Amino acid sequence: MMRRLTRYAWIPVALLPAVVAISIARAGGDAAAPESAAVARGRYLVTVGVCADCHTPKKMGPAGPEMDRARWLSGHPETMALPPAPKLPEGPWIATTTGTLTAWNGPWGTSFTANLTPDVETGLGAWTEEMFIETIRAGRHQGRGRPLLPPMPAEMYAQMTDEDLAAVFAYLRTIPAVKNRVPAPLPPSGPAPSADAPAAPAK
Ligand code: HEC
Repeated sequence: MMRRLTRYAWIPVALLPAVVAISIARAGGDAAAPESAAVARGRYLVTVGVCADCHTPKKMGPAGPEMDRARWLSGHPETMALPPAPKLPEGPWIATTTGTLTAWNGPWGTSFTANLTPDVETGLGAWTEEMFIETIRAGRHQGRGRPLLPPMPAEMYAQMTDEDLAAVFAYLRTIPAVKNRVPAPLPPSGPAPSADAPAAPAK
């Protein structure tokens, strides 16, 4: 009996490299450690929560605009010089955006999407998980500052469970840090919108 067991004892050892290789492949590339369940969940939530639509700059590809993977979730590019936003005539159209979908102008002024990468100086590198959850829950800058501006859909994301928000944060910790200092928002310029013009969503 003992002999028979030892005869097969080499099998798990021999299979180990294959198991490790599969885990690395599932983590999506060159990651040294297999992706944790929280990170995988966070990646899924960030994908279906379309964070990249607004937080990743776009570039021209063969089939038209595409996500700039090298600047994944790094927010409005600091190098993108912008002329003043166009003034819209009275009417149902109230907002404009750049082709990157990272700068937005409307009755609230101009907002720029944040750098969500773990860069310590310009991204979320110095944030704690608590700060991140509080920011989304309260819809406030860094959890307790000014109300977040449109079109950041914090009210929707606030409905995620703490566990899911923690997973989103865990995933954001794993993406490459990109140094990109996003400008501060600009106040509305020009004449105030008339009383019957649709107001910016109250926050
Ligand atoms: C429709 C566009 C849009 C989408 C989608 C979006 N965001 Fe944002 N986000 C913004 C804008 C614009 C800002 C800047 C708001 C401001 O300056 O007040 C922002 C700011 C933030 C901030 C910074 C808050 C702070 O304290 O300054 C965080 C964190 C954030 N978003 C996380 C996310 C996550 C996570 C997702 C996906 C689950 C997401 N966003 C999806 C537009 C978007």
